Formats: sequence, structure tokens, C-alpha cells
Amino acid sequence: MSEIRTTGDDREPTTDAESDTGPTRAAVGTPPPGPRGLPLVDSTLAFARDPLEFLASMREYGDVARYEAFGREFVVVSDPGLVEEVTVARDGEFWRGEFEHEFSDLLDVEGLFFAEGERWRQQRMLLQNAFTPARIESYADDMVEETGRLVDNWSDGEVIDVRESMSALTLRALTRTLFDLEFETERADRVRRWVHAMGAYSDSEFFGTRAVLPTWLPSRAEREYRRATADIESLVEDLVAERRGSDAEGNDLLSLLATGEYPDGSQPTAEEITDQLQLFLLAGHETTATALTYACWLLTGDDADDFRARLEREVDAVCGDRDPTFTDLPDLTITEAIGREAMRLYPPLPFLQREPHEETALAGYRIGPETTVQLNMYGIHRDGRWWSEPDAFRPDRWLADDENGRSVVADPDDRPEYAYFPFGGGSRHCIGMRFAMTELKLSLAMLVRRVDFERVTESIDPTPKVSLDPGPVEMRVRKR
Ligand code: HEM
Repeated sequence: MSEIRTTGDDREPTTDAESDTGPTRAAVGTPPPGPRGLPLVDSTLAFARDPLEFLASMREYGDVARYEAFGREFVVVSDPGLVEEVTVARDGEFWRGEFEHEFSDLLDVEGLFFAEGERWRQQRMLLQNAFTPARIESYADDMVEETGRLVDNWSDGEVIDVRESMSALTLRALTRTLFDLEFETERADRVRRWVHAMGAYSDSEFFGTRAVLPTWLPSRAEREYRRATADIESLVEDLVAERRGSDAEGNDLLSLLATGEYPDGSQPTAEEITDQLQLFLLAGHETTATALTYACWLLTGDDADDFRARLEREVDAVCGDRDPTFTDLPDLTITEAIGREAMRLYPPLPFLQREPHEETALAGYRIGPETTVQLNMYGIHRDGRWWSEPDAFRPDRWLADDENGRSVVADPDDRPEYAYFPFGGGSRHCIGMRFAMTELKLSLAMLVRRVDFERVTESIDPTPKVSLDPGPVEMRVRKR
């Protein structure tokens, strides 16, 4: 499988404590240009109404633009070179920031995603053992089997919610591979309830009227979320207790946490284990389910007949009458191109956020110390400067012929590296990238082998929630 480039430097951390804080630019220049915003609520309302549209509208002020919302200052970065600067070259100058941490505090989710400094490094080094190429290979058959099991449960002509089905699939695949557990329906339902409650709660707090009119009374969404979180905490405690009580000495993520050690010889605390498991339950299935859902959605569009037919031909030619395997991955080039194009148009995490440790400068503009820098992935992925027909579904843009005339997945050299960064970049790039790409390709190939989808839902309205939520996506299943 050709790798999606994440970085100019996607090395995993090493034991040598590399400097966390790189050279700080002398803070020079004026603040970036931007809208003045409405009185009192600044741009909060405009952002809350349609975050993607709002970020797109910031382009009229340039590649670095400033606005105020939620009582704080934001700078939107819409230039690939500057994204690379922030995430790779000047990585040590930035952290996730107060705004991201408000989100994690509100939702009570921590773990690797939100850890910083030496604590993050120790965690990442332990956990990356569950994501080595050999481990990913060992997960492949389970991913395929879970997709087969999902399809077996559908009847011909049935209308399904693709979003829900893909979430159920990726959750089962995740727990089976990373936790070495067959999650029965009851446990899976508890996790799904938690994710739903999180989406509803974060939506009401960050994007609803409560963002503008705060109230001290807990909302119904908050009460439901707190209940669901308590339930997940107890589920996670059970999982750890079961693993510690068993003889299993696995290299899976649950065993690494329950029985493993950090490189410095210390062990994860009970609280860290709970945090990590919750985080991985969330990050490890929600994002890939989102990518799969958009891939299915795009493949059933009126303009996608040709790609669907080519995808079917590819899977038939590569797999014949057997299920896809890990060794098929390099040959599933159209499958990969479709996955990449789906994440270009609908990146599961549509913008990333950072904050400078101290006042700094970016593209000559002054960036204050408490400013949230938003890396506008959704906008960059659809920018006409880097993409022809930027809003069109054109998987071909990812394909080229090698010297022997074989179709290969290729990234054109004339595009800046960070014109496409669905998995982020620099040292904080997605730890699950290979896992996700393997699952995306194998599940897509398996679905195409077994079923056709027809759209029932006529249009979608992608909204940033826990990931870029398409809303309900109903489709009719036709068995092949
Ligand atoms: C298509 C699927 C996925 C997408 C698009 C995605 C995207 C991302 C992105 C953009 C980041 C970087 C965020 C930032 O720099 O602010 C990230 C980080 C992360 N992802 Fe993923 N992800 C996916 C799948 C997964 C999977 C399958 C797992 C786990 C099994 C996972 C676990 C994580 C974790 C733990 C981090 C934080 C890493 C760190 O800070 O060291 N992700 N992901």
C-alpha cells in the first residue's frame, strides 16, 4: 500500500527527549486581517451556524485570517506550507491549546490525543507497539471477517443507515483487533450510546445556542452524556479487570495498558488506562466509520457510475471468488484512490487546532499566546489552487501509470505536501493511520464484493461534531 504522506518528518518519538520547544520566532508584525464580527457575540453565531462555511468565508481575508468567537481569538490558516510549518518545522512552539483542552475537560476525555510533553512521549512510545506494520497485518483478517459478518446480517432490499452500520463495524473490528475481545451487542451498544451522547452534548455546547448564551443549569444533553460516560467508565474497568485476571500476554493495546510499562519503567496508572481506553474506543472507530460512510455515499452518486464499475472490476480481478487479504492491498489501487478522495472531500477531522506556547509570528503576522490556530483542512482539501474541480469526486486524480503501465496510487509532485493531510502531520500525526487505511481498503473491497447500495437519503449536511458527521445516511442494500 502506498502510504499517505503525513509529514516531512513522521518519525515516531524516540527515548532521547527531543526538545519540546523549538526556536521561537520573534513576534513581529500586525495581527492578521479578519472580520470585525457582531457586537458581543463576535463571530460565535456565524461559526456556530455553519463552521465549515464560516471557515471557508475566512479565505476572503487571505491564508492567515483572524476572528473572535467563544470569547477568544482564532487564526485560520489556509495555506499548506504554513500547516507544515506549524505541525512539522515549528512543532515544538505549539501545543493543542486551551480551547482543545476546554473540549476535553467538558467531555472528560483525555488520553494520548490530549497529553503533552514527556508524558505524551512515554504514552506514544508504549502504545505505538500496537500499530507496527506486523501488528496491522495481523489485524487484517479480523477486519475482513467483521465486514462479512455485517453484510450477512443484511437482507436483500433492506434499507440501512450506513453511518450506524459503519460505526458498528469499525467498533467491532477495533475491539477485536486492538483489545482482543469479541464485543457482544450489549457492550457495543453502550459504546455507541456514549458516542451519540457525546455528539449531542458537544453539539449543544459548542455549536448550539448554549455557545452564545451559557447557562449553569446542566442541559438534558449533558445529563445524558454524564450518565453514558459513567457507564463507559464502568465498562472499561471491567475490561481491564478481565484482562488482568486472564493469562493472555498479548501485544494488543488493552494488554499493553493493563500489564505493560512505559519506556522509563513506570506503569500506566489506573486513571491513565481508563483515559486511553476511552479515547481509543472513540478515536479508533468513529473516524474510520465516517470515512467509510462518505466513500459509500460518494460511490452511489449519479456521477460515480464509472468509478463504481471500475472498483467492482478491480476487486473481482484481484480477489476472484475469495475475500480480500492483507497481501491484496498493493493491488487495490482504485479502492485506495476512492478512500483518499472521500477523505479529501470529507476529512473526518475537518480542522486541527494548535496554540503557541508564547507570542509568535506566522507569515509575518503576530499571533498572541492564547490564540487558537485553526488549520483549515477542509478548506485546503477543496482549494482550487491545489485541486482541479475541487468539489468533484474524481478518484482518478490519485492514480498514475508506472513505467510498466501498471496503475499505481501516486501523489502529484507539483502539489504542496500539506495540500492533503487527513491524518495530520509532524510528531502528533495519527497513530492509527496505517490501521485506518488498511481497514478502509479491506472493508470497502469486501462491501463491493458482496453488495450494491442505492441511495435513499437524497442529500447530506456534513457538520463537525465528534467527527465530520453526515447525519443519517439511509441506503437500500442489494446483495450481489
Ligand atoms: C480515517 C480514519 C482516521 C482519521 C481521518 C484520523 C485523523 C487523525 C488526525 C488528523 C489526527 C491528528 C490531530 C492533530 O494533529 O490535532 C489524529 C490523531 C490521533 N488519532 Fe487518528 N484518525 C483516524 C483513525 C484513527 C484510528 C483507527 C485510531 C486508533 C486506533 C486513531 C487514533 C488517534 C490518536 C490516539 C491520535 C492522537 C495522536 C497523538 O497526539 O499522538 N485514529 N487522527
